[in-house]
Amino acid sequence: MDKSTFKKFIALSCTITIIFTLILAYTSDFSLSKYMIPFYNVPKMADALNSITPIKDSEHFMVSAFIDHRLDGVIRVISIIKRNNLQPLYCVYCNTENDCKTVQADVQIHSDNFGFPFHVSDVICKGKHMENSTHVLISTKDSDNNNTEYLPIKNRVSTNTFKFDFTICISSLFGKYNNVLQFAQTMEMYKLLGVQHVVIYNTSCGPDLEKLLKHYETEGILEIVSWPIDKFLNPSPGWNFQEHKGDIHYYGQLVTLNECIYRHMYQSRYVLLNDIDEIIMPYKHTNLLSLMKDLQSAHPSVGVFRIENHIFPKTQFEDSGKFKRAEWNNIPGVNIMEHIYREPDRKYVYNPAKMIVNPRKVQQTSVHSTLKEFGGSYNVPFDVCRIVHVRDPLQGHLTKDQLFVDKRLWDFEQELIPNVNQTLIFSGLLRPWS
Ligand SMILES: *[C@@H]1O[C@H](CO)[C@@H](O)[C@H](O)[C@H]1NC(C)=O
Ligand SMILES: *[C@@H]1O[C@H](CO)[C@@H](O)[C@H](O)[C@H]1NC(C)=O
Ligand SMILES: *[C@@H]1O[C@H](CO)[C@@H](O)[C@H](O)[C@H]1NC(C)=O
Ligand SMILES: *[C@@H]1O[C@H](CO)[C@@H](O)[C@H](O)[C@H]1NC(C)=O
Repeated sequence: MDKSTFKKFIALSCTITIIFTLILAYTSDFSLSKYMIPFYNVPKMADALNSITPIKDSEHFMVSAFIDHRLDGVIRVISIIKRNNLQPLYCVYCNTENDCKTVQADVQIHSDNFGFPFHVSDVICKGKHMENSTHVLISTKDSDNNNTEYLPIKNRVSTNTFKFDFTICISSLFGKYNNVLQFAQTMEMYKLLGVQHVVIYNTSCGPDLEKLLKHYETEGILEIVSWPIDKFLNPSPGWNFQEHKGDIHYYGQLVTLNECIYRHMYQSRYVLLNDIDEIIMPYKHTNLLSLMKDLQSAHPSVGVFRIENHIFPKTQFEDSGKFKRAEWNNIPGVNIMEHIYREPDRKYVYNPAKMIVNPRKVQQTSVHSTLKEFGGSYNVPFDVCRIVHVRDPLQGHLTKDQLFVDKRLWDFEQELIPNVNQTLIFSGLLRPWS
């Protein structure tokens, strides 16, 4: 091949390639525009990881937005409001075409503020054609075209079929909490009781618990919601402002509990609101489903079932030592199987409850009771269901013979022990050959 023939050959090859590519592109449904995001009309959605979004030109924050089908389809934005600095707020709500409307918001600060300056609130947006809106923001101005941090609107469709029967909402994980053994045992216990989904709002945790959380996330039972409240406020480690100080009650627990209820309204038949070290334990039924079938048929309209909390001091050990297993020696945390002594009720001390709720019947919740619900609440008798709460004693002066023996956890040992073992191995916390 001489030089000019070679050039012709190259030119021809290129032309054929280009024509062939064009034909291919034309006949298949390839199109460039499909791959281009029309940047000019896409609002910036608040990052899924940023569960807390500051409201511009204010000291408040917005968290999540939901359609409330029980209240004529209004939009409810769960928010954190600085109580002494509340100015008029507006909702800007938009549809997929990015056609937006602005209405004045109705701010409902929850009544259980315990003296803290910042508190969970519902910012209610009422207006026309809300059913078709897809994103919303809270603004301090009634005409605000510059603001771009929208929240997606969730619960747009109401359903009667649920992905889960039982979801547990663990409201706040913080500090260097590393109580691995108790957490693994508790999770495995929940599973045996019929829980399919656990949600944890994570501010921070210890290194071994981190591994366990990752394992459960991979397994699919655990949903971890990032909750960086400490990046925005000075969260209180306690429940009472006078005593514990800080900007907001207990790492924002009241915000996350309410958020969790709305997040699972159409995903879960029931939602359990308890702490990471508490097990809502049926004493007459083998699992939560049969418990709730009975309770619900006896109390058809009730949506809130309150369960008494009972303390099992981690300072009192059962005598046989049969659950002091060598393979768990190096796992940090409390072995709940060893703690079968339960504190008695005190005559003049209120025994705080935790709850199993039908989320579709709750409007606002506190920790031990709901604030606004449909259908009332029911106190579940202690002999039917109670909380097994292994922790520091509240009545530390009591000796073993002044405590009650309560071995309910042991009924599950056959399945529980190997399941905990497996979990610790899968999490990389226990070596299979050790
Ligand atoms: C809302 O959306 C539905 C379905 O897309 C449509 O039929 C209806 O006309 C819309 N309503 C309004 C007020 O835009
Ligand atoms: C919008 O932003 C521009 C530029 O940042 C500013 O000049 C203008 O005043 C803003 N408008 C409003 C309504 O805030
Ligand atoms: C929990 O949050 C901390 C702090 O942001 C983060 O370092 C850690 O990876 C999170 N853990 C999980 C399991 O998501
Ligand atoms: C738990 O795992 C250890 C090995 O890490 C093993 O020796 C022990 O037999 C296991 N126990 C049960 C009940 O599965």
